Amino acid sequence: MQQQTQAAAQTFDVVVWGATGFTGQIVVEYLYQKYGDGQQGLKWAIAGRDSDRLTRVKETIGCDEVPVLVADSHDPASMVEMVEKTSVVLSTVGPYALYGSQLVAACAESGTHYCDLTGEVQWMRLMIEAHHDQAVASGARIVHTCGFDSIPSDLGVLFLQTQMQLAHGVYAESVKYRLVKAAGAVSGGTIASMLNMMDEASKNPGLLDVLADPYALNPINTVSGVDQNETSTPVYDETLQQWVGPFVMAGINTRVVRRSHALAGMPYGMGFGYEEGTLIGEGPKGYLKALLAGISTTIGTSLAAIDPMRTLFSRWLPKPGEGPAREKRESGFFEVILHGSAGQDGNGGSIKIKVTGDRDPGYGSTAKMIAEAAVCLAQDPLTSQGGVLTPSVAMGEALTQRLIANAGLSFEVID
Ligand SMILES: NC(=O)c1ccc[n+]([C@@H]2O[C@H](COP(=O)([O-])OP(=O)(O)OC[C@H]3O[C@@H](n4cnc5c(N)ncnc54)[C@H](OP(=O)(O)O)[C@@H]3O)[C@@H](O)[C@H]2O)c1
Repeated sequence: MQQQTQAAAQTFDVVVWGATGFTGQIVVEYLYQKYGDGQQGLKWAIAGRDSDRLTRVKETIGCDEVPVLVADSHDPASMVEMVEKTSVVLSTVGPYALYGSQLVAACAESGTHYCDLTGEVQWMRLMIEAHHDQAVASGARIVHTCGFDSIPSDLGVLFLQTQMQLAHGVYAESVKYRLVKAAGAVSGGTIASMLNMMDEASKNPGLLDVLADPYALNPINTVSGVDQNETSTPVYDETLQQWVGPFVMAGINTRVVRRSHALAGMPYGMGFGYEEGTLIGEGPKGYLKALLAGISTTIGTSLAAIDPMRTLFSRWLPKPGEGPAREKRESGFFEVILHGSAGQDGNGGSIKIKVTGDRDPGYGSTAKMIAEAAVCLAQDPLTSQGGVLTPSVAMGEALTQRLIANAGLSFEVID
């Protein structure tokens, strides 16, 4: 009730902070097309550190009436001012470990909801430690990972378990996520965030332990379980009858799914196991390809851990503000299968679901996912409490339905 009274006094439902960035502009375009210019049902505004750049974004997109706020991460007062004007802040300002902490602090303190696209596990851990209790008290729903990492994983597991209950009356004890196919590319902002994570780890080796911990995002009292850290060795998936190689987002998504399970009170049991990989192919050829994928992942990660190599990489790769062209985003897509089973060899029942998206995973689909997450936090009658949450715990079924209705995602049982 207190939350509703606060929200009613605020000027905006959603403020998009980072609207001048590569992903931020795609979010703004989507919100404008879907919800109009901020004067009707959804009251929203764009924000960033430079008013001229924000004006150029409005001119490019044609959303002249959308209000503008100026807020710089290096000016904490501007963070507080922005947060006090809105029910939800959607942030695409990254690397989040460099620019995001003041904003999360301001949201947790004031009870303002928040969503972002971070995949920086070490920073999420810090935010949990610093702000979870405060957000519980203020009612702020702080929700990281509202893009391709980790919505298909986190809402995929929720959908699978709901369907498993309906079909077999039990939850799956083991769930495996397999990336089947995807087309897209990466932006300079994402590369900057990944390189910053490696940079931080090279200065503080303790962070490597956090990144290697499969339960790195769990609440303090639920930090263990049956899962191990990812390996790059090929694994044979008996259910799908194919070899599986590493999946680059597994180190983020698996931690998010395990946090969701812990925050929900371990409904799938203490023995619940979750893993992710990329479906590579059948037979000896599939094995060889999975082996090569594992070797190149290991080499890539090892090279990125070396300071001069990071400098070299950043010269070749896209710079902040750059990313895949519209055509590439619109012709992109993704398809993921999750399969779950209960009991020894699945004798308690099993299920397979498919999650798809109709744009490239990193930007076209991600922009729609985070935009709908922000609208969901602002307008849907959610029952979750405040805290540093996950997409499934904060928004659950309400967000799944929005993504299906508006954002080109599908969730379906296939077997
Ligand atoms: N999880 C996913 O699926 C996913 C997908 C896409 C992106 N991401 C993440 O999203 C983040 C953004 O990526 P991107 O490619 O859009 O990056 P980008 O193009 O470099 O955009 C960064 C934005 O941050 C703003 N910014 C930088 N410093 C700031 C400061 N001190 N105060 C206020 N604003 C500041 C920039 O403003 P200026 O224009 O003024 O420089 C720009 O708007 C990255 O961390 C990336 O990893 C994640």
